[in-house]
This record gives sequence, C-alpha cells and structure tokens, in this order.
Amino acid sequence: MTLGRMTLTAKFEVLHFPDPRLRKKAVPVETIDAHIKAIADDMMETMYDEGGIGLAATQVNIQQRIVVIDVSEDRDRPMILINPEIIASEGIEQMQEGCLSVPGYYDDVERAENIRYSYLTPDGEKIEQDASGLLSVCVQHEIDHLDGKLFIDYLSPLKRQRLLKKIEKQDKLQAQVL
Ligand code: NI
Repeated sequence: MTLGRMTLTAKFEVLHFPDPRLRKKAVPVETIDAHIKAIADDMMETMYDEGGIGLAATQVNIQQRIVVIDVSEDRDRPMILINPEIIASEGIEQMQEGCLSVPGYYDDVERAENIRYSYLTPDGEKIEQDASGLLSVCVQHEIDHLDGKLFIDYLSPLKRQRLLKKIEKQDKLQAQVL
C-alpha cells in the first residue's frame, strides 16, 4: 500500500527455473472479468518492478493465458494480451534473450523474424496485428511460457548442462548462507 496513490495492485512472486510449475500449460481465459483484469494489473506491476519487458501468467503460478508486455524505452506503453496466438510467421532472427524466471542468464535464441498475432484486450476487443524486432521476439517468448516452454529449452545440450550446474552451485551457496 502507498499513501496518496490509491492503488490496490500487488506484486506476485516470480517462479525461477527449474521450478516444475514453469512447465504447466495455461488454459484460455473464458470470461474477462474483474478477477482476470486484477491479475493482469498485478502482473504489470510485477513486470515493471522486476525490470522485465514481458511476463506470462505461468511465471507467477497462474495457469491462464494472460501476458503483459512493455518493450518501449520509456516504459510507458503497457500491453495486456489475453489468449494471445501467433497466426503466421516468417523469416529467422537471432536475438539475445533473458527471462525473469532465469535470472542472470542471457543467450542467443533463434525465432521467427516477423509474426502476425492476435489477442483480446481487457475490454474484450480482438486485435490482430504484425510485429517485428523486439516485440516479435517478446510475444513469441511469452506465448512459449504459456505452453510451459523456456528460452533455455532452445540452447544446445552442452549449454543447458552448464547452466544447470551454475544454478545448482548458486543454490548451494544460498543454502549455506541460510
Ligand atoms: Ni521469460
């Protein structure tokens, strides 16, 4: 709670790899009600607070197809995507990605360069549009989350193994501190 700013939004805890809940598949939102809107608002607050450019409901242990994104430099163009879907894609692009669920790790991932995608707004309006560059990558990354998929799934087995070892080591260090 903050004084002077009447806000009821709250922050979610973001799940971290290798939490098995990140592998759950989200179901489509059937009715966009106040509850769904509240989840989206809290996800947005969580995303801004954590410094991410996108967040999927799966990452906060909610198995509904809701995504929030803001790829703008000034962090002032929030997008809420309900039941987002990729309709068409073309080209191949490689970009360095990171993820709030895999903190501190970044690597190149190959994805479609241009996409056409659709989603519902919180008002229930159906939007269909094209994306390229960072937005295209972000939409693909977040929809993957809804399907229980992480960007590190695209890495070579060797790189994945190295990453797992690194995470194990970090967890051990943390356990010692506690
Ligand atoms: Ni992510």
